[in-house]
Amino acid sequence: MKTIEEINIRNRRIILRAGFNVPLDETGNILDDTRLRAGAETIDFIMKKKPKMLLVVSHLGRPGGKIVPRLSLRILVPKLEDILQRRVVLVEKLERLRAIRQAGVYDSEAIYLLENIRFWPAEKENDEVFAEDLAQGFGVYVNDAFSVAHREHASVVALPKFTKDKVAGLLFFKEYENLSKVKDRPKKPAVAIIGGAKIATKLPVVSYLAKKYSRVLVGGKVANEALDEKLSLPENVFLPVDFSPAEEAEKRLDIGPLTVDVFRREIEKARTIVWNGPLGKFEEEKASNGTKNIIRFIEENEKAFSLIGGGETLEAVKMFGHPENYSYISQAGGAMLEFLAGKKLPGIEALG
Ligand code: 3PG
Repeated sequence: MKTIEEINIRNRRIILRAGFNVPLDETGNILDDTRLRAGAETIDFIMKKKPKMLLVVSHLGRPGGKIVPRLSLRILVPKLEDILQRRVVLVEKLERLRAIRQAGVYDSEAIYLLENIRFWPAEKENDEVFAEDLAQGFGVYVNDAFSVAHREHASVVALPKFTKDKVAGLLFFKEYENLSKVKDRPKKPAVAIIGGAKIATKLPVVSYLAKKYSRVLVGGKVANEALDEKLSLPENVFLPVDFSPAEEAEKRLDIGPLTVDVFRREIEKARTIVWNGPLGKFEEEKASNGTKNIIRFIEENEKAFSLIGGGETLEAVKMFGHPENYSYISQAGGAMLEFLAGKKLPGIEALG
């Protein structure tokens, strides 16, 4: 995999896939701009090299191949202009992009931002005709959206087939390096903590990491489902032995004090810690103790390389902990889990 630092981009037209899928409230306000700030580094890097034109492509939410005004990238424009300190020009239609390309007149100091790529049904269909049309005139494809590397979509997989160069952006490469480090070269003892919901996406990670890690500690809904389904798991996978609050133990809202203690002993010894998914319903005070304690144990272990990821995990750390105390915070959720389950991600493969 080549990175943007390895090729010449001066005076070239660049198309960049960014991961600007930020969380929004009901009225469409940006709740957290971390993903915009994380992506700004690559954009700054590119702009300093004086390309002819930079077109940024991203999705926002799941509009389902239709124009959904609430999910227009227009809402990102002022925020991006503020972060990047540059003019951001929203390109709403492909006709407009074609016209700009044909005229050949660009504001090379500005950043062109294509409207939500998922407004086009062709994106999810990984449509090559659409990708080829989009790629017209662009010599360089940059993927900086590790968060969608698990999706076989046109802007991730088909698009790089039609540009001369295809490279990873700075953020994409950072994600790849850090996730590879914990997956393939973890310092031992290595401990993974997997919580949250969605057993279908979490179980493959539990099984894969159980082969390489000393312990895999499982909590949250995923543990409850594993207990209900009486799954037979490897010996080094620890499920909760009690639940909290004690008077509602049957609801399994949070891991109990005995489990917290077992998990503490494992986390204290670890030299690598990977965490994805809260251990209980942490939004409710009465069920937040497990997650709060896990945060404390990880942050107190200063010797370990600690990597965390996933929207809810980051939310919990912002509520109860200190994000700066972790070695690496991944911006990817689903893609991180698939990568840590040992799967080949189409977005990585597409970069060759
Ligand atoms: C993310 O937000 O993690 C990615 O953008 C993936 O979004 P998706 O699950 O809608 O594909």
